Amino acid sequence: MTYAAFRSIGAYVPEKILSNEDLSKMVDTSDEWITKRTGIKERRIAAKNEHTSDLGMKAAELAIKRSGLDKDEIDMVVCATISPDYFCMPSTAAIISTKLGLKNITAFDISAACTGFIYILSIAKAFIESGMKKNILIIGAEKLSSITDYSDRSTCILFGDGAGAAIISATDNKDEAIIDIHTGADGKYADLLMTPNGGSGSAHDAIDQETASCFMQMKGNETFKVAVRTLTKDVVEILNKNNIENKSIKHFIPHQANYRIIKAVGDALKLKDEQVVLTVEKYGNTSSASIPMAINDIYEQGTLKKCELMLFDAFGGGLTWGSALVPFAPIK
Ligand code: COA
Repeated sequence: MTYAAFRSIGAYVPEKILSNEDLSKMVDTSDEWITKRTGIKERRIAAKNEHTSDLGMKAAELAIKRSGLDKDEIDMVVCATISPDYFCMPSTAAIISTKLGLKNITAFDISAACTGFIYILSIAKAFIESGMKKNILIIGAEKLSSITDYSDRSTCILFGDGAGAAIISATDNKDEAIIDIHTGADGKYADLLMTPNGGSGSAHDAIDQETASCFMQMKGNETFKVAVRTLTKDVVEILNKNNIENKSIKHFIPHQANYRIIKAVGDALKLKDEQVVLTVEKYGNTSSASIPMAINDIYEQGTLKKCELMLFDAFGGGLTWGSALVPFAPIK
């Protein structure tokens, strides 16, 4: 039997920091309000000429280097993003592949908002277990500043830019195998979090589409409640299904949307503080990039070790949600 192993991690954040203090000069808000309601202190913003593919490429370079693989051994690239370089085509995955100098690969993007990384992990697992591919580069990359309305205080305080990437490889060692992944979606909550303009569902006509903004709009309070409910239910289900107790989870790595959401889920699951990975304070919500960026943080701090069990949990626009039980399985 062929299994899928989570071999390596990499991440990249742009240099520029946008602090709560900076935002309070742009909209009617304050460091105190943002900190209290979200736990966010600052977020990164990509340069004008720095595209989502540039962020993704830098994260991917690190993940490839740490995997010990030669570039030529990678046979597929999947990118999760809601802020692609170009609307519709070409895919950001194809652009990243070329920037990395990868050849003879399959490359495509998927759109599952903040659950994107768990979705692409499940795609990689399926392709590997079916024997179709051997070494897959998955990337969550976002330049959310390009779809954020910096005159809307209810959204612009939340989002930031960044990228994370991982290599998922075939193995016959069951101890290294990704244990389980759950994914779900329900379009009836579509209007909670969306970019209403610019697509074929837009109210704008074809001419207006050129200038129509692609800014995100959100019903924050309703999203908050659905998020806590969905995240908690999803984690309980995946743990029960696999007969895994909370205490076996070394690192709970939730999507980094809001400290209060993470705290509510962590408390509901009776997780200890040291089990819960938090990066929301310094990066804000980076959508599909948030989970791999958080994994990279604990990897670089030296607290993520070989064979340790990680639990991912995310929700996002769509609505989408997902969870995954993943042992960290580097070659060395
Ligand atoms: N600064 C100051 N006041 C603000 C503000 C800001 N940045 N944004 C909103 N407010 C105001 C509102 O206008 C409202 O004022 P009012 O009472 O006079 O009408 C008040 O604060 C409360 O607004 P509300 O939206 O109920 O606040 P909240 O406690 O729900 O916090 C969020 C707002 C956005 C932080 C919170 O709802 C949230 O995090 N939701 C989840 C969002 C999310 O995670 N989205 C991504 C999904 S992947």
